Amino acid sequence: MPTITFATGNEGKLSEARQQLEPLGFEIDAYGGGYPEIQADTLEAVARFGLETLAGEVPEPFLLEDAGLFVDALEGFPGVYSSYVFGTLGNEGILSLLADTEDPSARFRSVIGFRVDGEEHTFVGEVEGTITEQARGSAGFGFDPIFQPREAERTFAEMSPEEKIELSHRSRALARLREHLA
Ligand code: IMP
Repeated sequence: MPTITFATGNEGKLSEARQQLEPLGFEIDAYGGGYPEIQADTLEAVARFGLETLAGEVPEPFLLEDAGLFVDALEGFPGVYSSYVFGTLGNEGILSLLADTEDPSARFRSVIGFRVDGEEHTFVGEVEGTITEQARGSAGFGFDPIFQPREAERTFAEMSPEEKIELSHRSRALARLREHLA
């Protein structure tokens, strides 16, 4: 079975990728060694830098993924800083920032970087939704309890893994990768 290495230390991301790529006949190995996430304006730049850094260190083909939550009322914050902001302000911090906001629109974006035979590709996925007034649910990870996709009545954290995969930014980016692999 062909193997693709996923450079991530995030179990949630790993299991989402496995659920989507293993049915196509790919085995997903994890590389947990990490890579520096440069400070950049876009997820694409972070992903490209990660690919360059891991080239030669991680067996090809390999992929990595950089994602973020972009809140309209906060001019796209936390965006590329999502990981840091989740670790510092957390979900409650985002809810406080939006306490007086009339428009809680937000989107998750995912950029997958993929390197095979020395060639690099990026694949993008997005999901539109809103930030809820309160955190709801306990499934998933990160900002899942405060993000409700536009197509749904529940937050990502109130969904089963299969339901989240139907809608998630990461699965949409993985779908682009799947098209490429096919
Ligand atoms: P990373 O830098 O790609 O690991 O992700 C940035 C941060 O965005 C993570 O620490 C999570 O807090 C958040 N994030 C990314 N994807 C998701 C998701 O699918 N659900 C909830 N939070 C996410």
